[in-house]
Amino acid sequence: MCGIVGYTGRRPAGPILLDGLRRLEYRGYDSAGIALTDDDQRMYVAVATGKLDALVQKVEGHYPPATSGLGHTRWATHGEPSDRNAHPQLDPDGRVAVIHNGIVENFEALRAKYARGPFASDTDTEVLAHMLATRVEAGLDLLDALREVVGEAEGAFSVVVMAVDQPGRLVAARVGNAGGIVVGVGDGEHLLASDLNALLSQTRRVTFLEPGELVDITADAVRYVDLDGADLAKQVEVLSYDPVSATKGPYKHFMLKETFEQPEAVLNAIRGRYLVHPHRVDLSAELPPERFSETWARDLSRIVIVGMGTSMHSAMVGRHYFERFANLPTEVDNSSEFRYRQPVLDERTLVISIAQSGETVDTLAAMDEARRAGCTQITICNTPGAQTTRVADGAILMRVGPEIAVASTKTMLASMVLLHSLALYLGRLRGALSVETEAQQVEAVLRLPSAVGEALDLAPQMQALAEQYAGAEDFLFLGRGLGLPVAMEGALKLKEVSYIHAEGYAAGEMKHGPIALIDEKMPTVALAPQDDVADKMRSNIEQVRARRGEVIAVVSHGDRGLEGVATHLVELPEVDALLCPIVSTVPLQLLAYYIGLSRGADVDQPRNLAKTVTVE
Ligand code: G6P
Repeated sequence: MCGIVGYTGRRPAGPILLDGLRRLEYRGYDSAGIALTDDDQRMYVAVATGKLDALVQKVEGHYPPATSGLGHTRWATHGEPSDRNAHPQLDPDGRVAVIHNGIVENFEALRAKYARGPFASDTDTEVLAHMLATRVEAGLDLLDALREVVGEAEGAFSVVVMAVDQPGRLVAARVGNAGGIVVGVGDGEHLLASDLNALLSQTRRVTFLEPGELVDITADAVRYVDLDGADLAKQVEVLSYDPVSATKGPYKHFMLKETFEQPEAVLNAIRGRYLVHPHRVDLSAELPPERFSETWARDLSRIVIVGMGTSMHSAMVGRHYFERFANLPTEVDNSSEFRYRQPVLDERTLVISIAQSGETVDTLAAMDEARRAGCTQITICNTPGAQTTRVADGAILMRVGPEIAVASTKTMLASMVLLHSLALYLGRLRGALSVETEAQQVEAVLRLPSAVGEALDLAPQMQALAEQYAGAEDFLFLGRGLGLPVAMEGALKLKEVSYIHAEGYAAGEMKHGPIALIDEKMPTVALAPQDDVADKMRSNIEQVRARRGEVIAVVSHGDRGLEGVATHLVELPEVDALLCPIVSTVPLQLLAYYIGLSRGADVDQPRNLAKTVTVE
């Protein structure tokens, strides 16, 4: 979850590292630090607790013109956020600097065995610097030293190291699935980063480290080896990812910008996949028919979809699509639960993973389980080159550009759309879907970008509601069927960005507990569009109102049936009932955003959270 960046070349490293850290800050923002080495074998180190700005204020204009260095932005795991626990961590003589993402699980045993002196921090990282310093002092090459050290460290992590007596050189290792290392190849320079965003303003030419791989870079050379030291060949990939979309533009927050980008995001997700002549879905570019054939599809016995957080909520929407269009029993599981409960899987199970980042450790571990069981895997991801896309047999990219706000918005909509497309595609391959249904659904999806745009027109109403309810300390979100995942997502968004306690609940469950909480101080948001459970939702809303609870009901276009029953009506644009979640999510994102704003919360970087979760 921490952000990592490294540079070696001919330009001053300081500004490049800070620029990279700025783009990575959403990964963690408890503290930040940089280390630079110059040709005179001096190391300059600066750290600061809190957001990156604190570090920038400390170092800007002060750092030496060194041309190599590394930088880190931290999401604390071992030790509170503080200067002494910030990275880089050094050995007692300050000769080796280490930045690290993930967890060294046996760090206590390593500390007992390899301490070169007292430890200055509570981190699991510092001992790596001690271990490296001992080896480098004994004359071991830095790459070999790091190979030995990571060979003894247990857990999943990535690490970048630098030694003062080897200026201009950075060595990195990726162990397991705790977030990747991307290597950027420039002209007379090389870069390293935990994710692409940090590199793309410098270069589009990249390679990715797989688990168990190391890289050794200088300005002019790059070398890849495995844990045994055997050389590896890697092909440089040239990426077309738009770094401009990683800026806020005229918006106050990334979350608002990304929410407003959703019509375009949906358009980008459907482009070339939902076809007009004839009305059908085509995913053959992502799922080549030689591998994903009719025979394969017809032989499937069930689907399991895994994901975390918002991605899991979109999976819950997807379940309805697979059951309806592909006639396949579908389960949804939280990746972190799935991986530890010995799921029953076989070659006829299709495992679909969803991850915005493609680096979420629990989702990668769930995919490992699926791979061991011989399942076919398809992943839906927003990050080209991410680990999930390399593990899965087929990858469908969201193509919505970088999502920077920690709370996901546009990637939720893209995931739902792509699950819908995959369900239609599988349905056709399996012969389970009529031409008419497919055509009708494609037609409906083609209208989605404008419907999502109309949902954004609800912003003033949601802002007014936010101002009215910003003082609430608890919120209930209720939904049934396709409305349940939306209710859960609405509650998650509100928790994330406003710190209000919120629960997303199956409306039918309300009577079995949450109803005890309801009074005039606890507002309820009810997803109540015209669908096959509309009458049941109406009863649930009446039950809340009977207990003096206020209800914001999200209803279908032109539906005034709940007037006088609910306290407020939020009218959705016209949309096919099955696609309703893709539109009804939008006002709930806006409600959360404006409530967070009213309460003065840090909407883009909420406390304690991180965008990419690479630790368990
Ligand atoms: C974090 C983010 C969420 C995201 C979840 C899963 O918790 O804050 O916004 O939904 O991780 O991330 P993924 O990259 O796997 O979709």
